[in-house]
Formats: sequence, C-alpha cells, structure tokens
Amino acid sequence: MPFDHAPSSANGGGPSAMGKAATPQPSSLPGSPHNELAPRLIAELHAIVGRDAVLTSREDRLAYEVDGTWVERAPLCVILPDTAQQVARVVKVAARESIPITPRGSSSGLSGGSLPALGGIALSMVRMCRILEIDRVDQVAVVEPGVITGELQREVERQGLFYPPDPSSLGVSAIGGNIAENSGGARCLKYGVTGDYVMALQVVLPDGEIIRTGGRMVKNVTGYNLRSLFVGSEGTLGVVTEATLRLLSKPRYTLTLSAHFSDVSAAGIATTQILATGILPTSIELMDQLTIGCVEEAFHYGLPLESAAMLLISVDGNHLATLREDLEAVAAICRAEGATTVRVAADDAEAGRLWRARRSIAPALARRRPNKLGEDISVPRSKIPAMIQAIREIALQYQLMIPVYGHAGDGNLHPNILCDRRDADEMGRVRAAAEAIFVQAISLGGTLSGEHGIGLLKKEFMESDLGARQIALMRTIKDAIDPQGIMNPGKIFPSGTSDW
Ligand code: LAC
Ligand code: ZN
Repeated sequence: MPFDHAPSSANGGGPSAMGKAATPQPSSLPGSPHNELAPRLIAELHAIVGRDAVLTSREDRLAYEVDGTWVERAPLCVILPDTAQQVARVVKVAARESIPITPRGSSSGLSGGSLPALGGIALSMVRMCRILEIDRVDQVAVVEPGVITGELQREVERQGLFYPPDPSSLGVSAIGGNIAENSGGARCLKYGVTGDYVMALQVVLPDGEIIRTGGRMVKNVTGYNLRSLFVGSEGTLGVVTEATLRLLSKPRYTLTLSAHFSDVSAAGIATTQILATGILPTSIELMDQLTIGCVEEAFHYGLPLESAAMLLISVDGNHLATLREDLEAVAAICRAEGATTVRVAADDAEAGRLWRARRSIAPALARRRPNKLGEDISVPRSKIPAMIQAIREIALQYQLMIPVYGHAGDGNLHPNILCDRRDADEMGRVRAAAEAIFVQAISLGGTLSGEHGIGLLKKEFMESDLGARQIALMRTIKDAIDPQGIMNPGKIFPSGTSDW
C-alpha cells in the first residue's frame, strides 16, 4: 500500500481537524519494515555515495529532525549525495525497498515540508551546491539545488545580472528548497516568485529515472508544463538535481522610503492607492506595531515604537529621475492616507539598514517567545485591512500575541502566532487561532499559503481551500508519478490528523 494514503475521512479533513489534540505521526508507518535500516542497505548506500555521506548515528541525525518550525521528525538515516547519478541510485534503492525519502535543502522552511514525516531517508542536497554556469547572452544561470539563494544573487550581480526572488531567508535558504516551495519574497510584487524564473529542471523521479524538463528558450509551450508541476510540489514528486534559472539585467538604482501610520488600515489603503496609480514598486512591505516592537527590542534599528504600522517601499529601475518622481508620488499618497512620517532613505546605507530591519523580523520574533507559528495567508490586496482587522480580533479572542507583517503589495501577510510549545493550553489556542485565520483568509477570497507551502502544518486545511475534487486531481497526479508514495510522504494531502 502506498505510504501517502491515510484515509482522509477520519476527522472530516476540514478546518476542525487542526483544533484537535496533536497526534504525532510515527517515525515510520505502522507495519513498515523500516524502523531501522538493515546493515546490508547501509552498505549498499555506502557504496553509492561514500561512507562519510551516510549518517546513521543518533547524534548525526538530530540536526536533520528540524526545520524552521518547531516540529521534529527523525529520519532513519541521512544521505548527502554529490551528483544527480548518486541521487538516482539512492532513490532506486529507496523505491526497491519501499523506504520513504524526503529531500531537503537548508531546511529553513516554515511549513514542515522538508521534515521526514514518516522517517526513512533524509536526502540532504547541501553538497550539490555548485553554480554550474552563468550565461550572459541567454541570461540564465544553471545551478545545483544546494546553492544558497543569496550567494547566487551576489554572483550574478557581479556580472551585471539579476535574480529577483528574495525570500527573507536568502542568506541561508537553498535554491532547491525555494523551487520545492515556490518561495516568494519582498521583490515578488514587481518580479514574481521563484517559479517565474525556473526555465528548466533536471529531476530524479521517484523510480530513480532522471528527466529534464524545459530549456533555456524564452518561449516553450510544448506539451504540459511539467517544470511548473515540479515547482512548488514540495519534494513530493521527485528530487530536483539541477535548475536553469532566468536572469534579468540588474536595475541600476533602487530607492527606498519608509512611512509610518497611526492606523494599520490606513497603511493597507495606501498600498492599494499606490498600485492603482500604475506605479509598480519593487516591494511594499508592512510591519505592524507589535512587529516593530519585537524588532526594536531585539536589534535596536531605531524604528519608532509609537508607529501602528510601517510601510517599507522600494522602487527600482535604470532612470533615476523617474524613480525619484515615482517615489515622490508614493510619498504623497502615504501622506494623503494619513502617514505621520514619510522618509526617503538618504542613501544605500540607510535603505540597507531598513531592509536589514525587515529581514530581522523572524529572528526578532523568535526572541520574544520560545516558538512561533509563522503563517503566510494570501488575500486579494483590497482585503488587507479586513484581514488585519480579523487577525486583531482573533488575537484578542484567543489571548495570543500575533504580530503581523508581510508583503502588503501582493496581499501576502505573515501573522505570526507567538507561543510556547510546552504549554498545552496555549497550543490549543494557537491551533484554534490558526484555524480562524485560515477560515477568514479563505472567506475573503484568499488562500492558505502565498509562499511557504502546505507541508505538514497546513495539510488538514487543504479541502477547505481547494475542495475535494481538486485534491483528488492532485492525488491522481501524485499517484501517477509516485505510485509507491515514497517521495516525501505525509505532506500536502489531508490525512485526518493534525501533525502538531
Ligand atoms: C518573510 C518570510 C517569513 O517574508 O516569508 O520574512
Ligand atoms: Zn514572506
């Protein structure tokens, strides 16, 4: 029986499932023969990747039980391949032996996507971290999945090129993980998400066969768009072993302003007004008062604590005069919508400081309470004020601290529920609040995830967002590509039990 086919009816799937007590999944399936890997299998894996690339001791595996959430799932063994051929051979062994296999990059993910939910093999791609080619004529980069996103950006920018997707984790997160989750970031308002830059992929399928899909041509409509299918599939359809990424020319200038509001709704309205003028900023980012307070407490950037909401807005392009005009128009709209302060950053150093403050939110929130549930609901941008108001009410109702920040320009908000996982009562309220936030986002015409993926933490809500028919279609695709259900099982599809 395939691994990923737990009945979806036990708790009815929908939102109520998350309100129930956490039911940790076993580290391997009940009845699965793989509670540990047999010595003959370990020897076979040694022969494929080398002795030092197979980790089986408890101490070594510990680091691979975690990701950017607080949830822990232990692999039976960790394998660190160095080539696509090694990946293919390892996957063939996993397929032959029906061992779950879960690819992972830097594991900074925020939905549990890279946790080995059912145990088995954690396939760490960190050794495959080479930038294979940067082609300035075709404007593409060919990379292995373990390349750190920020390093790729620096490398292409040295050559006058530009890779726009910029998840806040870009200093640590890997391209393979970005592709698996179809990560976004602040610049996605203007430039789109990771998937918009994936031109071709080399993928090891769940049977160990290697395929290439896409190419380095700009237009390509031959057949179904399989590369798009793999993007955002959260490692459930195969292992990406190489990616060809579209690059742009680097814009010559970026200008940034910050605006503070005494009312968070006004910041939301200013956002929609700016975009209605036809100006398309690179980013329009929002931080609410609680977020600003946490950042200041942790890192002292000098943000005003009395601000109810801050917008951080950048514009980029090649014509400085036009950018200055655009930014002046943006500033005027912010003032007209009641901004108490609007300040254009005097130079790159000041802008850099503001952006560092923005990127430091996650670590700042992590200092306030031991744990956080960092959500990434996405709503039509006109609904941002209503969504933020609803989150405020939910925070009051469940007596929780829920700072809200995120990508106001594209309606992708990060309500972060601060908590302590050791406090069972609080965690019950966290679940109920998360459920209420999801229900509200969906009722406003939004969706569960704008950029972090579904993984383990949101899978029980899939039906309330997509409906049974769409999930069944996705299941059909999964079964066609991975009939044994070995590739990152226990993810995306509702199983009827909450995983946290
Ligand atoms: C961010 C991550 C949490 O925007 O998506 O900071
Ligand atoms: Zn984000």
